[in-house]
Amino acid sequence: DSRFKELDKSDVEHFRSILGSSASAIIDGVTQEASNEDLEGYNADWMRKYRGHARLVLKPESTEQVSKILKYCNDNMIAVNPQGGNTGLVGGSVPVFDEVVINLARMSKIRSFDDVSGIFVADAGVILESADSYLAERGYIFPLDLGAKGSCQLGGNVATNAGGLRLLRYGSLHGNILGLEAVLPDGTVVDDLSKLRKNNTGYDLKQLFIGGEGTIGIVTALSIICPQRSPAVNVAYFGLQSYEKAQEAFREAKKQLSEILSAFEMMDGQSQNLYARASGAKLPLEEEYPFYCLIETSGSNTDHDSEKLNTFLEHVMGEEIVSDGVVAQDETQVQSLWACREGVSEASQHWGGVYKYDLSIPLPQLYDLVAEARTRFEESGLMSKEDEGKAVLDVVGYGHMGDSNLHLNVACRRYDKEVEKVLEPWVYEWVAERHGSISAEHGLGLAKKEFIGYSRSETMVKLMKQIKDFYDPKGIMNPYKYI
Ligand code: FAD
Ligand code: MLT
Ligand code: ZN
Repeated sequence: DSRFKELDKSDVEHFRSILGSSASAIIDGVTQEASNEDLEGYNADWMRKYRGHARLVLKPESTEQVSKILKYCNDNMIAVNPQGGNTGLVGGSVPVFDEVVINLARMSKIRSFDDVSGIFVADAGVILESADSYLAERGYIFPLDLGAKGSCQLGGNVATNAGGLRLLRYGSLHGNILGLEAVLPDGTVVDDLSKLRKNNTGYDLKQLFIGGEGTIGIVTALSIICPQRSPAVNVAYFGLQSYEKAQEAFREAKKQLSEILSAFEMMDGQSQNLYARASGAKLPLEEEYPFYCLIETSGSNTDHDSEKLNTFLEHVMGEEIVSDGVVAQDETQVQSLWACREGVSEASQHWGGVYKYDLSIPLPQLYDLVAEARTRFEESGLMSKEDEGKAVLDVVGYGHMGDSNLHLNVACRRYDKEVEKVLEPWVYEWVAERHGSISAEHGLGLAKKEFIGYSRSETMVKLMKQIKDFYDPKGIMNPYKYI
């Protein structure tokens, strides 16, 4: 956009004066020849689907530095792209053109933890897994967990309002986050790092940054309430004959496991075969099934929980709801069962590319979309049988069934417009007709920019635009993305 300034030497000098001379603070492809390789990890997204052309990456280490950078950018009409661990799945985390990347990796301090209230305060650049390990040592758990935990940052989790594997138990970040510190484009520091569980004093403005996808400001710190870590954790993995059986199993799990149920995930047979092929791992059950579910329980009493789980298992197997199942006997098995679920993301893009859809759909219809998508591809002539080399390898469905959140993935050998045409806008129309959401947890970013209207009314989009204009009147924050 020609409204934005092209970077020159004086801009880089100014940023150096803010950040100091440390080599890790700036990757400079403007005045110094940082190679494309140096910049690649900041320009290319996790799926290798979106690629920007940033020539400058800034890595501030304090809120004050973020504030000075943004103020300068705002005064000089320099477009910016906030970035955390760059694990986002909608193209929001990388620039479109040459926006300056502001990466929060160096803001990685844990600020405080209260082991009575469970309130944890940390910089936005703390890696999710590091936060959880810190809490584990103190008997607590971070109330969010997801497959990208080893690289994603808390600020990125906040900005995407990530849902993940245990939302069923601990609820969404909108409820758990007690306070935020954020910097607005003009450099104003929004100091709302409250540690209060209850605070009904006017509009709850922090909620706008949760799921804001870096379009109105940069989150620099958060305060979050963390639950006690459960000493007794059990994981079970089942094979089932149909999606109807998976729904019955979910109903029974809620009824019989109630307060100890901490995850209910569904994977179809195709997703598990893809995982096994890509990872070389052996699937846990001897026979193959059209559907699988993973259940986790977390409670405080091993005997009590095991008894409940065993009674549940006896019931669902006796009633032939579940055909076969295995319960993890130790931590290694817990990890390998979870890997069958968490490993599907990586497996889906193992052969070159993946078209990803992250949808909220009423539970009874949730899997119909996958079956219909598969039929569309079989009829399209784009689907490979054996190793024919055609673009589409498989259509898989999996996700957070406990939250009515389906992930439809089309695993491909390459990104191909013909494949996209089979899926879009058909998927979005399908979801809108059933009053679902075109983004349950990944956000809109660039990928779904054109499609917001399928889930939000004109009035809602207009209000969002007004908020964007109010917070970011010059439009420098993550431009070209959804709003
Ligand atoms: P990035 O990818 O760097 O950024 C994501 C967005 O947030 C961008 O728009 C960026 O501009 C903005 N942003 C980043 N940091 C800040 C900040 N400090 N202030 C303002 N804006 C910022 N998501 C789920 O919801 N549930 C899952 O189960 C899940 N599993 C995943 C599994 C894998 C293997 C992968 C690769 C991704 C998964 N995701 C999942 C996607 C999810 O959005 C991210 O993993 C994570 O929340 C993004 O964090 P990040 O630090 O990588 O952010
Ligand atoms: C998941 O649940 O595995 C994630 O949201 C990532 C994905 O959709 O691949
Ligand atoms: Zn997910």
